[in-house]
This record gives sequence, C-alpha cells and structure tokens, in this order.
Amino acid sequence: MSSQELYKNLTKYYDKIYSKKDYRRECKFIEGVIQQHQISGNVLLDVACGTGGHVQLLKNKFKVMGVDINKEMIDIARNKVPDVKFIEGDMKNLNINKRFDVITCLFSAMSYNLSLSEFKTTLQNFYSHLKEGGVVIFDLGINKNNWVEGMISVDTIVEKNLKLARICQSHLEDNIFQANFVFLIKEKGKVDFDIDCHDIGVFEVEQISEIMKNAGFSVSIYGEFSKDKWRPDSMETPVFVGLK
Ligand SMILES: C[S@@+](CC[C@H](N)C(=O)[O-])C[C@H]1O[C@@H](n2cnc3c(N)ncnc32)[C@H](O)[C@@H]1O
Repeated sequence: MSSQELYKNLTKYYDKIYSKKDYRRECKFIEGVIQQHQISGNVLLDVACGTGGHVQLLKNKFKVMGVDINKEMIDIARNKVPDVKFIEGDMKNLNINKRFDVITCLFSAMSYNLSLSEFKTTLQNFYSHLKEGGVVIFDLGINKNNWVEGMISVDTIVEKNLKLARICQSHLEDNIFQANFVFLIKEKGKVDFDIDCHDIGVFEVEQISEIMKNAGFSVSIYGEFSKDKWRPDSMETPVFVGLK
C-alpha cells in the first residue's frame, strides 16, 4: 500500500457489508453507455476493482482486466473470478502498456484522489490509457453537492457466527473527509474491535466536470446509474461518462 492502509484484515468483511449493492444494475448501465456511444471495441479496465464485484459480471460482455492498490482485495477478486487478470497498481500513477476501449472506476473509488490536482493526474492517466473514441465511467457517491455534515452511518452483518457493526460519522475539513470506520465484531463467540481509516476527497460535481473537460473528455453526467441526466438539486450519486 502507498500512503493509506485501507481495510487491512477487514477486507474479508467487504462483500458481506455490501451484499445489498446492486452490481448488476451498474453493469447494465455500463453496457447501455457502450451501446449508446457505439463503442466498437470491448477491452475494459476496471480501476480500483476491489473484490471484483463488477468484473465478475462485466467479463461476460468484455475482455476485462482489474487493477487495485490493495493486495488483499485483489486476492479475493482472483478467487472469485480466476479467469480474469488482476494486477496491483495505483490509479494515480497507472502505467499499463496497453490501451482500453472502456475504463471504469466504481463505487466512489475516485474519491481516493485527495485534491483536484490528484484528480486531474488520474484522469489524464485514464485518458492516455484509452483508445481514441474510448470512454471512462465513474461515480462519485460522496461529493460537495450531497454532503451532510455530522451524519452517522451504520452498516451491519448479522449471521449465526458473525455479528458486525461498522460505524462512521461524516466530518469535512479542507475538502477531506477523514472517515474513521469503527468496527465492532463478534465472530465465533470472540469479541473484537478495529478502526479502518480512509481519507476521502470531497469536491463539487462541477469542479470534476471541468477537470474532465480540460483533460480532453466530452462529458455527460447521469443520476444514480439511470438514463436520466444528473440534476444539481438532487441528492443522487452523479455518474460521470467521459468520451475521448
Ligand atoms: C469502495 S471500494 C470499491 C471497490 C469496487 N470498485 C467495488 O465497486 O466494489 C474502493 C477501492 O479502491 C481501492 N483504491 C483506493 N485507492 C486506490 C488507488 N490509489 N489506486 C487503485 N485502487 C485504489 C481500494 O483498495 C478499494 O478496493
């Protein structure tokens, strides 16, 4: 890992915490974008692929490769989707000797860019890894437009041998949300706790759109993986689509 150590030994709970996440709907959206923009190639790179939730669905339609900074996440992804190539890498200095038709970076993973300048570097990187006419797709669940200060979130897992609560409170300082996820775990009768610290960059949707345009993309923003355009007055997650 580079600057932050994310998830650590808590990686094994990731898929259980997000078991309700609708990966299928997001992959359908991606397929829709490819059709709409008549992207002819099907070589796709999923950046910050995590445990491979999107990859395992996308591989039915695309030639997929996954990259993530976290070896523990990649290990789970490799187990889940053994016929796909996964590599360890940092989106901020991505250097793959290959060009792609589609680059995805999903579930707010772009928020690990902590400044607009990091965001810009990452997007320029994506641009240079895309073929002419290719497309980048990413969502930004946490942004200035939908930010609520002081909100407490609680995620739980309740199984026979595992009871887990993950608690966090939103607090923004200088465009950075220092998310300290407190884990309370009871597993096989043993009680434990841990803290998982993530630094998350929080920016205006308009700022990100400008950076994309400056990087050379033609930009559309959709609301919540739907066909509808994102509305600034909504609390919906903006999904950015950038055409090279
Ligand atoms: C919220 S998870 C999303 C994972 C996956 N895309 C999904 O939808 O389930 C964020 C992922 O970003 C990865 N990540 C964080 N910083 C990164 C970086 N600089 N480069 C590549 N991956 C990164 C983490 O390891 C983690 O797997």
